[in-house]
Amino acid sequence: MDVERTFVAIKPDGVQRGLISEILGRFERKGFKLIALKQLRPSRDLAEKHYGVHRDRPFFEGLVEFITSGPVVAMVWEGDGVIASARTLIGATKPLEANPGTIRGDLAVNIGRNVIHGSDGIETAAFEIGLWFEPSEINDWMPSDQSWRSES
Ligand code: RTP
Ligand code: MG
Repeated sequence: MDVERTFVAIKPDGVQRGLISEILGRFERKGFKLIALKQLRPSRDLAEKHYGVHRDRPFFEGLVEFITSGPVVAMVWEGDGVIASARTLIGATKPLEANPGTIRGDLAVNIGRNVIHGSDGIETAAFEIGLWFEPSEINDWMPSDQSWRSES
């Protein structure tokens, strides 16, 4: 399995509800490495680019309004197969259909307030990381126990 990077963001509802540490903890405990982290209130331009694939969908305007309504916590996580694994940890888009044990399955009920975003593929991850972060904001660090934990 290749080492990958993915973009994850705690949406304004997750921040407002005090779920930052709960969500960070799930990714840390899984064993992924946090290589970038910041809190920001996204501009409309950033939000429209981030969700550009949904531009023609009826929920687009409300989605952009919501994601720009307050601070989000933007992150880059690194690890083996992290792109698909993060989506598994996050759970289905509709929280009522998300499995228990997933973030949305445990912590949300509403599709428009589903707490967290994760990139859905290799190209999307590269695009979103570049959209949200400057290269200088990404830290390429090595955990001191890396050689111990990476044995297969
Ligand atoms: P996200 O991009 O936020 O991680 O969510 P996702 O991949 O699971 O779902 P996606 O299809 O990319 O949809 C993006 C966000 O748009 C909102 N949405 N609302 N009302 C609706 O039918 C509807 N469909 C999607 C959700 O907040 C979803 O997370
Ligand atoms: Mg998506």
